[in-house]
Amino acid sequence: MILEDMVDKRVVVTAGASGIGKVIATRFAEAGAKVHICDVAVEQLAALRESHPEITTSLADVSAPEDVRRFFEDAAQSLGGLDILVNNAGIAGPDMNTEDIDYDAWSRTLDVNLSGTFLCTQHAIRLLKQGGIGGSIVNISSNVGLMGLQRRAPYVASKWALIGLTRSMSLELGPFGIRVNAICPGDVEGERIDRVIRMEAESRGVSRDQVVAERVEGTALRTFISPHDVAALILFVCSEAGARISGQALAVDGHVEHL
Ligand SMILES: NC(=O)c1ccc[n+]([C@@H]2O[C@H](COP(=O)([O-])OP(=O)(O)OC[C@H]3O[C@@H](n4cnc5c(N)ncnc54)[C@H](O)[C@@H]3O)[C@@H](O)[C@H]2O)c1
Repeated sequence: MILEDMVDKRVVVTAGASGIGKVIATRFAEAGAKVHICDVAVEQLAALRESHPEITTSLADVSAPEDVRRFFEDAAQSLGGLDILVNNAGIAGPDMNTEDIDYDAWSRTLDVNLSGTFLCTQHAIRLLKQGGIGGSIVNISSNVGLMGLQRRAPYVASKWALIGLTRSMSLELGPFGIRVNAICPGDVEGERIDRVIRMEAESRGVSRDQVVAERVEGTALRTFISPHDVAALILFVCSEAGARISGQALAVDGHVEHL
């Protein structure tokens, strides 16, 4: 039922050329949705077009208002409207104590993770309201959007902020049949978490294996998360099965204890 609900849905995914976004985009496409993505990585975009010619693409930075305007023009033209937006683009930001963080690094993290989501969502709301049949917006936060984490203040602040944005927009958009939810993954297998683990191991002067073991031990299910777990939850939330779910921050993290 969940997969059948996706047939012919018009879906936009930000940062869909690699990582979790690529798995989300391809999962929707495999379920029969029409998918348009953006990314800043030229080579990854070309590779995705080669492997998945059914997915259309824009070269766009979500933090640049003019790029986002063009991205949604492309999306509206390619898809003929919009049913689902997945705001996936996000950067890790600096790994350092708050007093040492450069203002530019702080701003860049907030620009991509928070303002990028805001900009894309504004365009999506207009398209969803034009369609007149509601829709679904999913913001990729993180389980650190539900707790604190040392040396990662800009990232953590941006992911908490996304939950505030989600809850506020859900109240505004619910009367139009538009649902807004945040997804909060734990450590997801892939290049990004490899980089984060390497940075943490170097900054603490411990081995990579120790960092991995501690992170896995910190979850009740003793596990990392697969990007497919994240995609599955998003498809569920966007399907009829999730029709009464809005304004929520849903963790997929093997149960890390937080608020
Ligand atoms: N990887 C994890 O463990 C994890 C955990 C929780 C939440 N998340 C969140 O999931 C999302 C995806 O994470 P990921 O691990 O796949 O990331 P990633 O670092 O692997 O990047 C994925 C893609 O984002 C693109 N991108 C970067 N900046 C962009 C911008 N300004 N505009 C458009 N595209 C841009 C990159 O080119 C890349 O193709 C992020 O929001 C991240 O914060 C990740």
